[in-house]
Amino acid sequence: MGDRIKRIGVLTSGGDAPGMNAAVRAVVRTAVGQGIECIGIRRGWSGLISSDFVQLDGNSVSRIINKGGTMLYTARSEEFMDHTGREKAIGTCKLLGLDGIVAIGGDGTFRGALAISRQAAKDGMDLRVVGIPATIDNDIGCSHYTIGFDSACNTAIECIDKLRDTMQSHERCSVVEVMGRHAGHVALNVGVACGATAVLVPEQEVDYEKDVVEPIRRSRLSGQTHFMVIVAEGVEGGAYGVAKRITDETALDTRVTILGHVQRGGTPTSRDRIAATYMGYEAVHLLSEGQSCRVVAKQGNEYTSFDIHEALAMTKGLDPQTYTVMRTLTGVQ
Ligand code: F6P
Repeated sequence: MGDRIKRIGVLTSGGDAPGMNAAVRAVVRTAVGQGIECIGIRRGWSGLISSDFVQLDGNSVSRIINKGGTMLYTARSEEFMDHTGREKAIGTCKLLGLDGIVAIGGDGTFRGALAISRQAAKDGMDLRVVGIPATIDNDIGCSHYTIGFDSACNTAIECIDKLRDTMQSHERCSVVEVMGRHAGHVALNVGVACGATAVLVPEQEVDYEKDVVEPIRRSRLSGQTHFMVIVAEGVEGGAYGVAKRITDETALDTRVTILGHVQRGGTPTSRDRIAATYMGYEAVHLLSEGQSCRVVAKQGNEYTSFDIHEALAMTKGLDPQTYTVMRTLTGVQ
């Protein structure tokens, strides 16, 4: 393959996130602007195995910037984990004449991108890959921000504000579980934005007396009659475990709400649309500059990229400042 790329594939893989469509749009429009053809691979890596594709042009991505979900569908592919599945995927890349792939998703998506680029290299094929971080969990080590996080937090906040109304009427304690897999970014941000009584995250071992019961007691002593406890799904025992401990130790009437997949849907916020647009633009530029095995990242206000191996090895803790603010405002010393 010469330096100039002619045709690329774009796919979304893993859990969907609001803003994925905006990223697909930016990839397609940037590629078309550079005279590069764009093929949408449907259903993530599974679609590459089964040759499930659609040709995209500038018009095919009209009016999707404001849509949740992903027009390309998504999947978590078991078959892609083994050599035979990846061989089939390489077959599709050869058949379609792909010079590069933009893979939009989380860590699992980037592992898939690395695996296919290795396999392509073994087969003597020059297939460039670039990843774009999109997951509501915001748990990609190399990037301060992942597409979908802001929209998911806003959806959770809207639901929690509604819950607060009924909790207040009944003078109850609401225990709300938010998504995040093994990370507490959603819980922490949502907790701060909702003025939660307590916030529990998997990154910190829970001391029930100090982190939950005392904040509730202090809140009650200051005149509150309803309470809001936010629990990240990765916390041991989950929301039901936390609610039981609260009832046992405070005799409060608790209600559990698991927000679940509602957090993954809905209109992407401006923050997600803009991040997705910059990242899509950046990904195509990386490919056309001849780069491969990169993950686009946001560092502060800058968009940059990391080597995919480095990116996969990086971890990201909770933002220390937000954590300190949350602890101070919930009165935990
Ligand atoms: O990674 C995004 C996420 O929504 C996590 O927060 C959650 O643990 C998981 O995906 C749920 O996955 P699924 O949609 O396969 O149930």
